[in-house]
Amino acid sequence: MKQKKMGILGAGSIAVKMADTIRQMESVIPYAIASRDLNKAEAFKAAHGFEKAYGSYMELWSDPEVDFIYIATPHSHHAEQAKCCILAGKPVLCEKAFTKTSQEAKEVLALAAERKVLIAEAIWPRYMPMAQTLKEFVESGTLGKITSLSANLGYNVFKKPRVNDPALAGGSLLDVGVYTLNFASMLFGNDIKKVTSSCVMSETGVDTQNSVILEYSDGRTATLYSSVVSFTDRMGVLYGEKGFAIVDNINNFEALRVYDKEYKLIEHLVRPAQITGFEYEVLAMLEAMENGWLECKQMPHSEIIRIMELMDSIRHSSKFYYPGEARQN
Ligand SMILES: NC(=O)c1ccc[n+]([C@@H]2O[C@H](COP(=O)([O-])OP(=O)(O)OC[C@H]3O[C@@H](n4cnc5c(N)ncnc54)[C@H](OP(=O)(O)O)[C@@H]3O)[C@@H](O)[C@H]2O)c1
Repeated sequence: MKQKKMGILGAGSIAVKMADTIRQMESVIPYAIASRDLNKAEAFKAAHGFEKAYGSYMELWSDPEVDFIYIATPHSHHAEQAKCCILAGKPVLCEKAFTKTSQEAKEVLALAAERKVLIAEAIWPRYMPMAQTLKEFVESGTLGKITSLSANLGYNVFKKPRVNDPALAGGSLLDVGVYTLNFASMLFGNDIKKVTSSCVMSETGVDTQNSVILEYSDGRTATLYSSVVSFTDRMGVLYGEKGFAIVDNINNFEALRVYDKEYKLIEHLVRPAQITGFEYEVLAMLEAMENGWLECKQMPHSEIIRIMELMDSIRHSSKFYYPGEARQN
């Protein structure tokens, strides 16, 4: 596979993790970093071995040497920045949550389709080898019929502006709840009959915690919890007729432990060695670019829209709207 030059848009904390990851990948060249502040970009370039530092995002998507762009800014800015990259013809790997709303996601994906530019969401667990292991496990029948799952994700990160500020599309649902929804969607699909949810709102106007129950048409359920004011055990649990299984860390899969009806451990699968876990979404981008695909099969565009729609409906049922968002009755 030909080496590709990555450009990173936004020199914040997750950009550092991506830089650490691609430095250890042979197939990617850490090429350009763009920040609104040239000094910050220069410091990032020096610290992480990039070739170019830009003091504006426009310089990044205008650089003909850039093969693809990783968007690493708050959710509020993803749609506009993704559109600019697409219009410049640059393939995009956009951090989660893909956008603020499903409407924005549809606009971005429509533009990408019209311009025939690859775009993918950097929802990293979807791309991990363990994602496939879990899907196969659910289909294997080891636990008989799996009737329900639960998943949680929480970190005490509310003090971060991008988490507590509605203008930056903050809140628990888009920041961490998105992983619990993806976990459920990956394993149980999207034939959802009923959604019940509750968002606890902060004084700033975003959700600090949320609880969601998804009831599927075939009678299965998913019970999900996320928080930005507390730490959780990050577990996913699958409940079946013949036992149950625990997925350690739905944010960055670590292991699958399977128990029988006597509560005896009968299977213990540990994830393969990895760099940070971000390499899989990058490899998926490279594969898609190599093959001329416009989406990554691990997270198709239809799935991006479904998750965004689900998050809209969960927010709206708690009267949680972002600034400028049209209110539903
Ligand atoms: N995959 C994961 O595990 C993971 C973990 C954490 C976060 N994320 C996602 O990564 C994205 C960025 O998160 P982060 O923690 O890296 O954020 P961050 O450090 O707060 O901000 C990242 C960059 O966004 C720009 N930015 C920050 N505040 C802004 C504002 N008020 N207006 C305009 N631009 C602003 C800045 O770019 P400049 O350099 O131009 O100043 C900043 O360096 C989010 O979508 C988040 O959900 C993913």
